[in-house]
Amino acid sequence: MRNRVLVMHGVNLDALDRRPAEHYGGLTFARLEIRIGQFARELGLEARFFQTNFEGEFVEELHRAGDYSDGLVLNPGAWTHYSWAIRDALEVAGLPAVEVHLSDVAGREEWRRVSVVRDLCVGSVAGLGVEGYREGLEQLRAALA
Ligand code: DQA
Repeated sequence: MRNRVLVMHGVNLDALDRRPAEHYGGLTFARLEIRIGQFARELGLEARFFQTNFEGEFVEELHRAGDYSDGLVLNPGAWTHYSWAIRDALEVAGLPAVEVHLSDVAGREEWRRVSVVRDLCVGSVAGLGVEGYREGLEQLRAALA
């Protein structure tokens, strides 16, 4: 059974509790990862976690991801909207991926509406806060089945 999921967070997600609570809910990043881990267990998935504020590190982890995971849940933060390097690395990873955003990226500034990774993903979830990760993991599980 393919059930190994790598949950990847990008730039500024580690400072979640210091970002606008109306968009991000005020929870700490540690708490977010704990909740995602709980969702994964409930769904029979084995989750590992990765976060960095350095684009090259994110890229390198994408290159390695296939060695130890079957699929990805991806929240690249602001990189979502412009990092062609991360898009290309996601292609290199060649794994099923679901894009998740805590906030409603479609309802915020114009520049957040663009996602350079979306068309490489099997699913995309935004605006559901922490619960969006449950949805994202469900979508990924379906893709891995
Ligand atoms: C985000 C949305 C992005 O626009 C923003 O830059 C983030 C977080 C989200 O989870 O809602 O850092 O990806």
